Amino acid sequence: MSADTTFVTWARTLCISLILSGPVFAQDNAPPSSYMPVVDRESFDTTLKRMRNEKPDILKRHEALLNERYDLSNKPIKGVTMSGGKAVQGGVRVRLPDDASWESLAAMSPAEIKSKGLWPEGFYPLPHPNHNEGGMLFPQFHIDAIKEQENRDLTRFDLDFVLPDTFLPEFPPPIYLTTRPDLGDVSQGKVVTLTNFFDLFNGILNPKQLEGMRLLLTPFPQQQFNATWDRRSLKPSMGVSCLDCHVNGHTNAATHLVGDIRPQKHRHRIDTPTLRGVNIQRLFGSQRALKSVEDFTEFEQRAAYFDGDPVIATKKGVNILERGSQVHFMGEVQALFDFPPAPKLNLLGRLDKSKASEQELRGEEVFFGKGQCAECHAPPYFTDNLMHNLRAERFFKPKMINGRLASADGPIKTFPLRGIKDSPPYLHDGRLMTLDDTVEFFNIVLGTQLTEQEKKDLVAYLYTL
Ligand code: HEC
Ligand code: HEC
Repeated sequence: MSADTTFVTWARTLCISLILSGPVFAQDNAPPSSYMPVVDRESFDTTLKRMRNEKPDILKRHEALLNERYDLSNKPIKGVTMSGGKAVQGGVRVRLPDDASWESLAAMSPAEIKSKGLWPEGFYPLPHPNHNEGGMLFPQFHIDAIKEQENRDLTRFDLDFVLPDTFLPEFPPPIYLTTRPDLGDVSQGKVVTLTNFFDLFNGILNPKQLEGMRLLLTPFPQQQFNATWDRRSLKPSMGVSCLDCHVNGHTNAATHLVGDIRPQKHRHRIDTPTLRGVNIQRLFGSQRALKSVEDFTEFEQRAAYFDGDPVIATKKGVNILERGSQVHFMGEVQALFDFPPAPKLNLLGRLDKSKASEQELRGEEVFFGKGQCAECHAPPYFTDNLMHNLRAERFFKPKMINGRLASADGPIKTFPLRGIKDSPPYLHDGRLMTLDDTVEFFNIVLGTQLTEQEKKDLVAYLYTL
């Protein structure tokens, strides 16, 4: 290699390194790295004091971002509830840029919206409440329930969950079993934990499934919750369980950063997806595209729990599940979690004309026709089991948002729309609060030019799924 090319290579590496360095991974003046520091750089007490001091400003900054992006007031839709009865929030909550209307935006080309800077703030990727730090973060109602039942504390000393409960799934959510639809909701209104699962499921599940359920409820070490000094729990923690996020086989909207991407600012925020209906799906993870629930079960605990870093996993206590007797049992239980009943749909996933309202039927027509939704969200579960690149970056210039570099997301899994009113907030990062928001989003992304009436009808239809 000539001296010139060596210099160019060196300079290029330096530039890339500077671009790549994420705050969590950059170690003082050390070069950037994909790895987490294994050796502690300060004592636990120093970390605790420092992060507790920083916490109020971090929370204020995230709250300000949410209020700038969304109208978070409590406006439930009359007569529309989630399966267990919690009110569904209605209306478009993403705030419009000044001097724009949803109609004027939908009439513009992507290039025009981009050059005029008119992409609504709420349509940009949503950062983690503390994006530089990331990690698992649980809503307070879940923390309280687990403390009460198991005396296990999922509180982080450095961060609280910020989004109002009105925009989260109901808690505790009902449980419908694919094997026992005759029973309806089998949760008895409880949060299933190690303390009550046997009483709830003995006689309903087989012994193998009972063991799978026990494992899904058993805490194992994770990045923020473990015994090391760089944990984020006040006391050394036993860890987290699968159903701490996928509560009752559904979701409590606990949030996290995806482990697959480096550097930190490119990592997607990911809100916990429901496990209802994983039995009919073929791809798992918003981008990972793992091919089976069993693979995902192994990968969650071994890699995703530790930000995709097997070195730090070894330090913090990785739990290796045995494939034949544990992973498969856990996988089998996940395949039991069914979608909630949708009494207005027929066998093919189409509206039963004797049960649906005029408006719902008009909405179905939009969904399958002008709105093009069914191209990807195919009945009866309203997914094509594929991924699509929606290329939302056509509409905006990349920008930093509280530590997250909003740019191209890449291909994302087509999440099923069955039972969708039970699973706010929407999209992989929870950037949209209501189904009305998703309709405005797809209307612009797809360029479908829906009328006000068509959008209202479409939302009414989505409630029936
Ligand atoms: C933060 C709390 C959290 C915990 C704890 C957790 N998960 Fe997840 N889970 C998530 C998130 C977030 C995703 C989305 C991942 C992605 O988009 O790449 C996910 C995705 C999944 C998926 C794929 C769902 C889909 O629709 O593609 C499965 C299956 C799953 N988890 C099972 C498990 C199992 C089994 C455990 C325990 C070993 C577990 N999860 C523990 C948050 C959690
Ligand atoms: C080109 C394929 C495609 C079309 C067409 C499409 N979607 Fe989607 N949809 C997706 C993908 C991919 C996602 C996941 C995006 C993400 O999480 O970032 C998604 C997510 C959603 C979600 C959120 C799901 C969740 O669990 O959070 C809703 C609601 C939705 N779509 C409704 C619609 C409606 C209504 C239409 C028609 C107006 C539509 N989609 C058209 C591919 C499509």
